[in-house]
Amino acid sequence: MRVLITGGAGFIGSQTLLQLLGEQHEICVLDNYSNSSPMVFERVAMLSNSAFELVEGDVRDRDTLAKIFEGFRPEAVIHFAGLKAVGESTTFPIRYYENNMLGTATLLQAMDAVQCRQIVFSSSATVYGVPKYLPYDEAHPCIPTSPYGRTKYFIEEMIRDWSAATPTASAVILRYFNPVGAHSSGIIGEDPNDIPNNLMPYISQVAVGKLSKLQVFGNDYDTRDGTGLRDYIHVVDLARAHLNSIDYVAGSAGVETFNIGTGEGATVLEVIQAFEAASGQTIPYEINQRRPGDIAAFYANPAKAHNLLDWRAKFNLANMCRDAWNWQSKNPDGYVQGPK
Ligand code: WQD
Repeated sequence: MRVLITGGAGFIGSQTLLQLLGEQHEICVLDNYSNSSPMVFERVAMLSNSAFELVEGDVRDRDTLAKIFEGFRPEAVIHFAGLKAVGESTTFPIRYYENNMLGTATLLQAMDAVQCRQIVFSSSATVYGVPKYLPYDEAHPCIPTSPYGRTKYFIEEMIRDWSAATPTASAVILRYFNPVGAHSSGIIGEDPNDIPNNLMPYISQVAVGKLSKLQVFGNDYDTRDGTGLRDYIHVVDLARAHLNSIDYVAGSAGVETFNIGTGEGATVLEVIQAFEAASGQTIPYEINQRRPGDIAAFYANPAKAHNLLDWRAKFNLANMCRDAWNWQSKNPDGYVQGPK
């Protein structure tokens, strides 16, 4: 199938690109490199001998999109492109609304112009907000607590309205939990700009000596050891959910939403222990205050994805830490230089 991947240079996008190439899909990637590096494509080429089209551009640029849809004529779109830092979205909310929502509206209009009716959207468990119950299932109320989370939820609603107005439209919305890890080769992985906000890349950079110590944001939560609990999902498992979703949208109409998580939770201290076991490195840390806006604990009920998407996470936390360390130790500065 001909698939357009927006944001295909990113952490999850590049893993998904690799897996789609492996299934002989024809791919066009659109990325503006605002939070990624074009060097990732040299690495993808090291792992796959399949060619693909690459367009540097912004999903908000109507002319760029028109050229892609008229020239490449995608049958389906996987839409990753968007800003995704929770804290930053609180500081710059309108930048997030403009980028994430206008970008998606422009994309859907470009799809309509050539009757492209299939989309897989990168959403987030952050749409749920403070848990009313756990594990979250897809029926859980969506009351996001950050502008970033609200852009994801509003985009979900945009897609649902688009589908209702377009009988032949077919959409899958994937609500990611906490993506971590790297390709088993260590050739592609997570390469955040600046100092990482997220736990796993921060721990990885402490382990490789780029950062000195981890700050644990609170140990007085109502969890088994007092530290925050999350459902970490291996990025390769997450990428595979997109492959299954491309098959799903090809054979259906309407909109389906799926939680993509393991259904297991791990606390910050448990992640530290798992990473130390996987890397053989000690992770110095100190307990600090809670991070504003953090939720104590959340994890997925992934049963719907198991049953309807024929998808199930295969990798556990030890695998995630092993692969994250393999990537970081071979690429201490990310994609800046060649792999060690
Ligand atoms: C995990 C746990 C922190 C860093 C975010 C987004 C979410 C999604 C995934 C996009 C929490 C603790 C963290 C650190 C720490 N992204 N922590 N010290 O906040 O669950 O989710 O990333 O969709 O939308 O909200 O992930 O990795 O930042 O935090 O103690 O230096 O680790 O308090 O308990 P989070 P995270």
